[in-house]
Amino acid sequence: MHPQKFGAIAQLVEQRTENPCVPGSIPGGTTIESESSDSLFLFHTKRLFDRILITLFVAMKLKPAIILENQDSLMEELKFHCRDNQVFILCDTNTAQQCLEILLADFQSFCEPEILEVDAGESSKSMEVASHLWTHLLECGATRKAIIINLGGGVVTDLGGFVASTYKRGIRFINVPTSLMAMIDASLGGKTGLDHEKVKNAIGTFALPEAVLIFPEFLNSLPKDEIISGYAEMLKHAIIKDARYWDELTLLKEIELPDDECIEKSVRIKESIIEHDLQEIAERALLNFGHSIGHAIESCFLDEETAISHGQCVAFGMMVETAIAAEMSLITENEASQIISTLSHYYNTNGVALPSFDRIAPFLKNDKKNSLNELKMSLPIKIGEAKFGIVVEIKTAELCYEKWRLSTIV
Ligand SMILES: NC(=O)c1ccc[n+]([C@@H]2O[C@H](COP(=O)([O-])OP(=O)(O)OC[C@H]3O[C@@H](n4cnc5c(N)ncnc54)[C@H](O)[C@@H]3O)[C@@H](O)[C@H]2O)c1
Repeated sequence: MHPQKFGAIAQLVEQRTENPCVPGSIPGGTTIESESSDSLFLFHTKRLFDRILITLFVAMKLKPAIILENQDSLMEELKFHCRDNQVFILCDTNTAQQCLEILLADFQSFCEPEILEVDAGESSKSMEVASHLWTHLLECGATRKAIIINLGGGVVTDLGGFVASTYKRGIRFINVPTSLMAMIDASLGGKTGLDHEKVKNAIGTFALPEAVLIFPEFLNSLPKDEIISGYAEMLKHAIIKDARYWDELTLLKEIELPDDECIEKSVRIKESIIEHDLQEIAERALLNFGHSIGHAIESCFLDEETAISHGQCVAFGMMVETAIAAEMSLITENEASQIISTLSHYYNTNGVALPSFDRIAPFLKNDKKNSLNELKMSLPIKIGEAKFGIVVEIKTAELCYEKWRLSTIV
């Protein structure tokens, strides 16, 4: 934003904080009349104005993720944020083995971090584990100046972000994502969360990390299945925002480790969507494409032994939601079948006992995006463009889900 414009807005906010009825003008915009008798109009204008300002201020705090080419630059960044502070590194059993050493090699030269380790897997996104971490922080005498480095996949960044944003009313945290899913999605945008009563991300906060430091070399130890899982969110970015990126990503016969350029493309697509809408009042909902159905499927597996990845569920969700878009004539049959056939080529359902619609329906209705009996979804209208807030009738969702589910049974 132009500094002069920002200065003028800040001045006006100051006046308004001291005296909410003070007249003023939005630079380059509407003038708010001091003598207006229409106090209701004034009240609503002020509320709208305040909302715009809050959005602007929140948006300005969103710092773009930094993609680092080598270990030295990663350590430089960490040094900058952590020097002279109490540092905690949260990792899971896998990232403790595969990634921690890279960090610790240099870390100990400038501070002695405390390591917090949780079990790998979705089950760690629980109140019980969060409570255990809060206790540990208290026992270690963590003050409000302490900082947590979340070194791991989406489970660690969601859990660590939640614990940090609630401990002593919020301490700082940095995300150092180590899975593809976390690099291009989970670590960005300040959504933190725990699962509760089998509902995915039922408890959570919006809290921005102080920095997101992406070091793609961590991906070298990531299992292939996890690459495939993260790739689903990259495909989602392409479907909702960038048709050329879709062409690029779908050139592969088989999913493989994406290069740094693709990682950066996805990171910037996500950032460009959330920078104006951190609290998901509007446009950020686009990123939920595939997640209404996807989360509902994932929720059915939360308590089961069968492992199913988040990305796999999102891919299944994108297939069904694309079919819903076609059923509602929002996208052409041709484009819809291009999306569905490509996704089903990469993400097959072999060995997955897909739940019936009756089993996913309670989770769909519990979805944060829905109200009462109305389903609200983000759906593609063509490859590279999507719309959010589309009302979908339950019977349309059921029809498309069951049609897809039956088509997967050979
Ligand atoms: N907050 C958000 O905006 C957001 C967005 C997308 C997903 N999520 C959440 O993220 C989670 C999924 O993330 P995920 O797929 O990263 O899952 P994850 O954190 O469970 O990681 C997947 C597996 O890979 C292992 N792993 C991670 N990095 C590794 C590395 N470098 N080497 C070896 N093993 C490594 C982990 O230990 C784990 O076993 C879900 O809970 C989902 O709800 C959140």
